Amino acid sequence: MTLRLGDIAPDFEAETTEGRIRFHEWLGSSWGVLFSHPRNYTPVCTTELGYTAKLQPEFAKRNVKAIGLSVDKLEDHHGWSRDIAETQGASLNFPLIADADKKVADLYDMIHPNASDTFTVRSVFIVDPNKKIRLTLTYPASTGRNFDEVLRVIDSLQLTDKYKVATPVNWKQGDDVIIVPSVSNDDAKKLFPQGWKELKPYLRVVPQPKG
Ligand code: BEZ
Repeated sequence: MTLRLGDIAPDFEAETTEGRIRFHEWLGSSWGVLFSHPRNYTPVCTTELGYTAKLQPEFAKRNVKAIGLSVDKLEDHHGWSRDIAETQGASLNFPLIADADKKVADLYDMIHPNASDTFTVRSVFIVDPNKKIRLTLTYPASTGRNFDEVLRVIDSLQLTDKYKVATPVNWKQGDDVIIVPSVSNDDAKKLFPQGWKELKPYLRVVPQPKG
């Protein structure tokens, strides 16, 4: 099944390093980052998981729960997590799904047979508290993802939801943002009483709202 932005993230039950979970129930009212990696005991995946563990305080600040997946058995996850702690300076502090029967990988279309019919590609799904998919991303097995970028997208999405602003090219925390086109000037006056810089009627720039 092709999953698209705005679709409800399919629910599933799975064995993880932190016990058996039901995905939607486990998410509760949090945002979620569900990401797959090709297999255990591989170098790129080891670095990704270590880095994601280090980002845990940043995820927590944003009310986000991370959850990884590979099509390996639970006992392999436990052995590999010791290697992650030893080599990456951070222990796994989020669940890793043991998807040996590829149930979740199939549900989320994480196996791309023309790349590999055995292992998952590097997929990322950002899911909002309404369980809607807000971002999908697919990387090849040999390229580690940029998890700082995942955080940046979450910041952008949360700003859009809260303040009706969008973020421009290469935006980073603290940079100016753009009033979304669906907000009329009349409504913008209420939302942004300090005014905005109008470069074009469709390009209205304001400082990043805080709080
Ligand atoms: C890795 O995770 O390190 C990896 C997996 C497949 C191909 C290349 C690298």
